[in-house]
Amino acid sequence: MAIAEERVVTYIRSLETEECPMLEEMEREALENGVPIIKKETQSFLKTLISLQRPEKVLEIGTATGFSALLMCEYAPENCRLVTIENYEKRIIAARENFRRAGREEQISLIEGDALKVLRGLEGKFDLVFMDAAKAQYIHYLPEVLRLLEEGGVLVSDNVMQDGDVFESRFAVERRDRTIHARMREYLYEIKHNEALVTSILPLGDGVAVSVKRKES
Ligand SMILES: C[S@@+](CC[C@H](N)C(=O)[O-])C[C@H]1O[C@@H](n2cnc3c(N)ncnc32)[C@H](O)[C@@H]1O
Repeated sequence: MAIAEERVVTYIRSLETEECPMLEEMEREALENGVPIIKKETQSFLKTLISLQRPEKVLEIGTATGFSALLMCEYAPENCRLVTIENYEKRIIAARENFRRAGREEQISLIEGDALKVLRGLEGKFDLVFMDAAKAQYIHYLPEVLRLLEEGGVLVSDNVMQDGDVFESRFAVERRDRTIHARMREYLYEIKHNEALVTSILPLGDGVAVSVKRKES
């Protein structure tokens, strides 16, 4: 189920401009092969946010074949470093090859493994965290993400509307999706009520939440 009216989405998409040929090709391939990459509207949002914030350290949870990582690098300052996490072997191989073809092997570090385990072992601070992996795990990633986020840093969480399920009653959701439904609701409640964060939930793409980590005064 779409979360925004189709004709609104179609109109907004009609205004989008092309990316570099490699990103266009990667997007086409991903769509053909069923690789779940960020939607056009989310791409546009991330590009704008990155151009505004100019982050120097970005953490991405969920690389897939590297499309969003490369898109973010395209709009980030030249000295930006990006760390991205993926656990699916086939996608790791494709992402490494894409980072090499784009000449960004030095700029992007791909860490293989389960995101929660990897996050627990990470040190340092990030200006921007893009959360785009297993939706039911977001609530478990959050304490680690808060530890790794700079004060004033931004957390972008994708797919938070769970294809429109999240605002339905749990009984309207397929039984097999109820755990994700409950955990995503818990996650959204937490990022809206956690005193360390200021959060806005946007009905964009599959639903995007933008949170800023407050500066301690
Ligand atoms: C929505 S896709 C990421 C799309 C990518 N950010 C893009 O737009 O180009 C989510 C990815 O997270 C990965 N993933 C899911 N659970 C994971 C986990 N526990 N640890 C690491 N990666 C995980 C999946 O294999 C998948 O490739």
